[in-house]
Parts: sequence; C-alpha cells; structure tokens
Amino acid sequence: MPYGGVLERYSALLDLPAHTRPVTLLEGNTPLIPARRLANALGGDFELYIKYEGLNPTGSFKDRGMTAALSEAAGRRVQTVICASTGNTAASAAAYAARAGMKSIVLIPQGKVAAGKLAGAIAYGAQVLQVEGSFDDALRLVVAICEKHPIALVNSINPYRIEGQKTAAFEICDALGRAPDWLCLPVGNAGNITAYWAGFKQYHHRHALNLPRLLGVQAQGAAPLVLGHPVEHPETVATAIRIGRPARGQQALQAAKESGGRIIAVSDDAILHAQRQLAALEGIWVEPASAAGLAGLAHEIASGRLDPRGQSIVIVCTGHGLKDPDIITNLIPEPLRVPPELHALEKAILS
Ligand code: F0G
Repeated sequence: MPYGGVLERYSALLDLPAHTRPVTLLEGNTPLIPARRLANALGGDFELYIKYEGLNPTGSFKDRGMTAALSEAAGRRVQTVICASTGNTAASAAAYAARAGMKSIVLIPQGKVAAGKLAGAIAYGAQVLQVEGSFDDALRLVVAICEKHPIALVNSINPYRIEGQKTAAFEICDALGRAPDWLCLPVGNAGNITAYWAGFKQYHHRHALNLPRLLGVQAQGAAPLVLGHPVEHPETVATAIRIGRPARGQQALQAAKESGGRIIAVSDDAILHAQRQLAALEGIWVEPASAAGLAGLAHEIASGRLDPRGQSIVIVCTGHGLKDPDIITNLIPEPLRVPPELHALEKAILS
C-alpha cells in the first residue's frame, strides 16, 4: 500500500474530529539515522540516533502538525488560515493551505526570519506580513484576530497540531521497538516537546513501552523556561526558537519534569558548534535551532549530569540546513578561485 502520510498511518491514535478531511503531502516517515561517529565524539559506548525531521515536505517537523490542523480546518470549510511564525510554521501552513485551496496569512518577526523559510512562505502563496516586534507580539495579534474574524489559527495552540506532531514519537518507538532512554530536542514555543511527551505516554499505555527522559534545549538568549520568567527581547542565532513567551511553556516544564528530564539553555556558540559537528561527522546539515538538541546533550555529558553509557539516545533535528544557508555562507570566506587549468587545481588541493 502506498504511504499515506501521518494521519492515515496513525489514524487510530489521533484525536481528530469526524469532519476531518485529509490534506496531506505524505509527511512523516522520516529516517532515524544511527550516528556512530557523533556518539564517539561524545565519549562513545552508547546508541545515538538522529530523527531527521528536516526531511519532511517543507523541510521541518511542522508538517506533521500542519496536516492535522489543515485537515480539520478543511473539514469545516475554513477559507483562511493564519499563524505567527519564526519561519517554519509559516512555510508549512502556506504549503498545506495551498494544497487545501485556502488562503494563508503568516506574521513573522521583522527581519529575523531565515531566507529559506521566507522564500518558502512566498513560493507557496502566503500573504506574508512582518510585525514590527517579536514572534510573541505576532502570536498575540493572530490570537486576537481569530477571536474577531472567521480565520482559523494554525499555531500549536491549535490542539490538532499537537495530535499530528505526536506521530514523531510513534515513529521513533516503531523503529526502535521501544522508546529511547533520552530524547533531546529544541524548545521554542514548546508545542513539539508537549506533543512528543503525549505521544510517548500514549504508546506507554497502549503497548506498555518504557518512557524516555526529555532534555528540552533553549538558547541562552531566549530561555524563559530556564529563567522562570518571560524574556522581553529574546535574541539568538537560532532564530527558529527566538521566543520569549512560549505558549505551551507550562506544559513543556511539566512534561520534562514528569519524564525525569529537564529543560536547559545552551550558548549560541554551542549551537553553532553542534551544527558543524552534525554536518561534518554525520553528513546531516540542519538549521541552527535544530542543532540545539545535540548542543544540550553534549553540555549535559560534559558536565557529568548525564551518563550516556549503555543508553539509547535520540536527538530530534527539527529543520533542514537549507532553510538558513546564510548562517553558513556568512561565516565562511568565499571559496578559493582557481583558473580552469589542471596545474592550478593541483596546486590548490595538493600543496
Ligand atoms: N526547531 C525548529 C526548526 C523550529 O522551527 C521550531 C519552532 C522549534 C524547533 C521549536 O519547536 O516551538 O514546538 O517548541 N518554530 C516555530 C515556527 C516557532 O514558527 O516555525 P516548538
């Protein structure tokens, strides 16, 4: 049978209303890639996997939740959807809206959205508006407008987003035959960690599987869940998680605590280092926010707070490196120029 996307594959496990009418790009079914060289770099002696969510149709994990949110909206004949976004939600909402024949409006924080995400939202035909403020300002606005007008909100406060995103936890358990001991992932607006925990708990009850411990990772300049209060002016190179007031922050803290894990913050330098390590050691290029899970794991191992020996650990890489090419190209010098002659090439690579 052809693969039908996450709603079809896990229909029995998702709490979606009867009116739901599938809008899918055959998202999900992303690889769980063993990462032996990376595990060795972190000290070895444990199983490490990358759940590579950048391989979803629009290049991020958002597609899992978006197929659910747009399918529900399509079932009640919604004409227009809206979201606030640091970029990936915007691109995903725009793509699924296009597929459903709906109009999409996306609000992004001014000047802080990676090129590949903005280009995606435009290519898929969204009306893109830059809010002169942060993601948190944009989210406040879209919530307010949906209270007044018949527009459907597709941020992760929409419960169907969480239903769809749970499927990543199911896939990991199906691939491993159990849950990992640790799951490490970035935390921004906190929908994803909430969804993973709901998914793992569901499999725990249904199939009597173990539960993982969750390591949620924020960037130091945008770490409201670590600081214990909102951050008015969040700043980080990982623009996807540049969020100061996470909508599902309390649920994220609760999930981390229930799991026996925690939410920590790492520096931008650590995030960029992790991004380079993933690419150089495993051939997996992710956007900066997506490397936060690895940066967090490395931090915990180095500080002795997490002993990986004998453990099975999954790092969730949430978005593709192509989303944010500027981060790389701005940091490297322009490639060396060579004349189109063999001796020049020899000189460049052999000397
Ligand atoms: N990683 C990437 C690549 C993201 O785009 C996001 C969130 C996260 C991690 C964090 O997930 O918000 O569920 O905790 N991006 C949102 C957006 C905010 O608008 O695209 P979260």
